[in-house]
Amino acid sequence: MSTVRKIFETMEYGPAPEAPEVALEWLKKHEYSFRPFIDGRFRDAPDAPTFESINPRNGQPIAKLTQCGQAEVDAAVAAAAAAFPAWSGLTGHLRARYLYAIARQIQKHSRLFAVLETLDNGKPIRESRDIDIPLVARHFYHHAGWAQLLAEEFPGYEATGVCGQIIPWNFPLLMLAWKIAPALAAGNTVVLKPAEFTSLTALLFAEVLQQIRLPAGVVNIITGNGSTGELLVKHPEIQKLAFTGSTEVGRIIRKATAGTGKKLSLELGGKSPFIVFEDADLDSVVEGVVDAIWFNQGQVCCAGSRLLVQEGIAERLEQKLRARMETLRVGDPLDKAVDIGAIVAPVQLQRIEKLVEQGKSEGATCWQPSWAVPQEGYFYPPTLFTNVEPASQIAQIEIFGPVLVSMTFRTPSEAIELANNTVYGLAASVWTENVNLALDVAPKLKAGVVWVNSTNMFDAASGFGGYRESGFGREGGKEGMYEYLVPNWERKAALSDKANSENTGNAPSEVELSRMPLAESDEDSFEPGIDRSPKLYIGGKQIRPDSGYSFAVRDASGNYCGEVGLGNRKDIRNAVEAAHKAASWSRSTAHLRAQILYYLAENLSARAWEFENRLAVSPGHSHEEAKREVSKSIERLFYYAAWADKYEGRVHAVPFRNVTLAMPEAWGILGIICPAENPLLSFISLIAPPLALGNRLVVVPSWRFPLVVTDFYQVLDTSDVPGGAINLVTGDPDELGRVLAQHDDVAALWCIGSKELSEKIERDSSGNLKATWVNFGKPRDWFDGGQGQGIEYLRRAAQVKNIWVPYGE
Ligand code: NAI
Repeated sequence: MSTVRKIFETMEYGPAPEAPEVALEWLKKHEYSFRPFIDGRFRDAPDAPTFESINPRNGQPIAKLTQCGQAEVDAAVAAAAAAFPAWSGLTGHLRARYLYAIARQIQKHSRLFAVLETLDNGKPIRESRDIDIPLVARHFYHHAGWAQLLAEEFPGYEATGVCGQIIPWNFPLLMLAWKIAPALAAGNTVVLKPAEFTSLTALLFAEVLQQIRLPAGVVNIITGNGSTGELLVKHPEIQKLAFTGSTEVGRIIRKATAGTGKKLSLELGGKSPFIVFEDADLDSVVEGVVDAIWFNQGQVCCAGSRLLVQEGIAERLEQKLRARMETLRVGDPLDKAVDIGAIVAPVQLQRIEKLVEQGKSEGATCWQPSWAVPQEGYFYPPTLFTNVEPASQIAQIEIFGPVLVSMTFRTPSEAIELANNTVYGLAASVWTENVNLALDVAPKLKAGVVWVNSTNMFDAASGFGGYRESGFGREGGKEGMYEYLVPNWERKAALSDKANSENTGNAPSEVELSRMPLAESDEDSFEPGIDRSPKLYIGGKQIRPDSGYSFAVRDASGNYCGEVGLGNRKDIRNAVEAAHKAASWSRSTAHLRAQILYYLAENLSARAWEFENRLAVSPGHSHEEAKREVSKSIERLFYYAAWADKYEGRVHAVPFRNVTLAMPEAWGILGIICPAENPLLSFISLIAPPLALGNRLVVVPSWRFPLVVTDFYQVLDTSDVPGGAINLVTGDPDELGRVLAQHDDVAALWCIGSKELSEKIERDSSGNLKATWVNFGKPRDWFDGGQGQGIEYLRRAAQVKNIWVPYGE
């Protein structure tokens, strides 16, 4: 036992335990047993089994929880659905008052929340007290503001409906706040499922909701494991799902919701790089690494788990790190002087142990401090791997524990290549004293968040979310609010049979796959005529389809009026390759992109009569309508040319000495499947916004009347569009859509088509978790200024990257 005198003599840490009584009394008051919170009260679930929540500090059970089944899930969703009309109908101001009241109560009970969180999760009290709970309050305050400003800041948008929210165990109350605060601010109602290991603070939160008299049913909390989550995911009355957890479960949810019309956001795993250049301040770097990988025992989705060090300083940094690791304190999470607490559960501890053994067997060098971790409870020491092969399992797989792998690089471009060499893209840290280098590297990293000379900084005003297999969607900031809103035109567009089969339907059986050999003409000059088969447009050139076949296009009376090339899998692959090579388009200035869109409009206008004549024979077009469509297409090109240099990012007002730059970034390669109807206007409406923001496109034009788009090749050729920036492959949208959905180099995919095709696209893209935008067969009025153009198109054409740049000494 340490005495003050002994401590004074040795200058060693003495224990500084936080008193747990406040939380133990709360548990006792509830007789260590909890029911789900449904429709404003804790509801009996007599037929449901129970399970135990364990204190990871000692493995002892601390509470009994309900394993909610179908009956509880149904009751919770019904309560949320019943509460939705009144809650979404409240003024923003009234909702703001409720959110404000929640924030106040969290602050008032912060000690109870912090101690309970630490007992249930095993994280150090210093973190739950100083980071998790203050951030929870901050989220509710910030979103009280969004509720107040909703009508002004999000005109034309409305609440999505009943939201199902599934959260993990690493930041139990914080993840709850990230999900519930924006959902309520936007006017949604919620059914939330906490992780089975850590449900207690969510149930305490439910009591806060009772205290502030939040209307019954607005928030419901159901406890249980993955099978409860699965019931929630599949519930037909859920309109939006938000999930944070493993990439594996994210993929299951993507598949399960495909084609259901549920809005989805996924915040998944990561293997984030922590890049150190040789001019970095190494002492700061060492403390940065401590925060990056030993914060919350490394159980952090954005943990800087891959240390990438410039070769010349690697040895020195590793030495410093080992010295610092020796001084870290692992132990009782309630001890205020402890740096690293307990791992959440035995299953997670075993997973870490297994991956560390795998790292050793792969030949990497494992280093751990000389001291031992406590034997009781679930503890793991801080661990450093050196001599790591970039392709090895420990360099690629998310370990989700206090394990750091270190690799070296020579040049900035090698660092970027190494940093981007995983399937993930959640976060990255860049350490250098050279601001030019930092700001050059940051945009090149495939990550939703980049911290310069800092790490693991979070705030409600700044969006958080990933690229690639780290998921899609953002939480926090203005960008996070959109995840809980829908444009009201989209909501109102009812699914109609006509829409399905005629207007937006991509019915491949109707495409006459005549498989006629393509006309043997190599001339590149264009002569409008019905007896010529245009080819595909790839890399700025007209290319014969790989199949060598074409398909027939018919006019309004069903008469044959021409043929176009029948593209296949290989043509899509070639088109993606051409788009890949056209990376300079994404780097070009917004001014240049605007100029080129204006030029397209100018050249379309110069040949307007040709396009009018062509459209006039297409199904559903009189000459007047054809004229209107061409004229609207020209106007739409002007509209997005205007936006190209005005769709700007923001500088978030975070409460740190930081500039936090929210930059809209083009996806890179975007796939587009156009609807059958309005073959010119829908095509222009879909290509212009992503082109304006710097995406390279692979487009499947209207299958019913692609001739008007193949005529457009000439307009592209004469408008300075660089080869590969836009690639056009005519053919069966079903077949080509699947290839686009499964292609790893296509970062996002839009599809306006039938309900069936929407479902296929969402399902086929679950492998690489690509962001998709589909219309579920709902018709769109392309002439309408609200539906056919607008911010929603630009928003969907980019993802926001948040770059945190500290200032001051
Ligand atoms: P998990 O993804 O299984 O659990 C997260 C949440 O999803 C929990 O609430 C769980 O009950 C629920 N869930 C599980 N299966 C479900 C299903 N089929 N349908 C609906 N909901 C379901 O994560 P788990 O098993 O706790 O941890 C495994 C690994 O996942 C970790 O080692 C780590 O690598 C990763 N992970 C990543 C997190 C992140 O923040 N990105 C958080 C938690 C885990």
